[in-house]
Formats: sequence, structure tokens, C-alpha cells
Amino acid sequence: RAFERDALMITIHLQPHDPTQAVHTLQAQPGQSLMQAAVDANLPGIQADCGGLLTCATCHVVVHGDWQSKLPPMGSDEDGMLAFTAQTREAGSRLSCQIELTEELDGLQVTLPASQY
Ligand code: FES
Repeated sequence: RAFERDALMITIHLQPHDPTQAVHTLQAQPGQSLMQAAVDANLPGIQADCGGLLTCATCHVVVHGDWQSKLPPMGSDEDGMLAFTAQTREAGSRLSCQIELTEELDGLQVTLPASQY
């Protein structure tokens, strides 16, 4: 029943830090984290050294303005780990391993940091 799963795929857009580089557009399954979708696609720019355990801060993304309020609020652990990102935290900064992709996030736009280290 692959067609049913495809119907539920969520499209996400990841803009490299260098705005002259092309946006990466991925299809992801609901319930996956944004980090896992990026890693599965071998996307450069998301390292995710800890595999989603909230101990590395190398899955940092900056969520675009209109999308920030659509995300689930961050927990205190994520909030604390955002102090350890290589690129300084911004208003839209999140750890992508903590963003579960839902249908509401179809079309999500984020920018990748200059570096994860
Ligand atoms: Fe390590 Fe997100 S993958 S904190």
C-alpha cells in the first residue's frame, strides 16, 4: 500500500547557510524527526552525532519565522542544549532531533547553520 504512505509524505525545505546554494527539498514520513529525515537523505549540514539523544547540539537548524509557532514548544533539555551550538543561537533556533514531523509541518522551511562544530 505504498501509495497510501506516499499520500502522507511531508515536504520539508532546508536552505544551506550560504543563500546562493540551492535549497534541499525532502519528503519525510510523519512521526520521523526532522533530523532523521535529513540524515536518511545524507543531507550535508546536519551531523546529529548523538543520534537524537539531546547530547550533541550538532543537529541545529534555524526555523523560518512563520513556522516557529507551528512547532511544538521546546522542552527545557532542548533549551539548555541550544547553548552549545557551534553557530550562535537565534530566535528560530531548534534542535532538529526534537522536531517531530506532523502533517501541520508540511512545507516546513529551515536554514542550516554555517557549521555544526
Ligand atoms: Fe544530538 Fe539532536 S542529534 S542533540
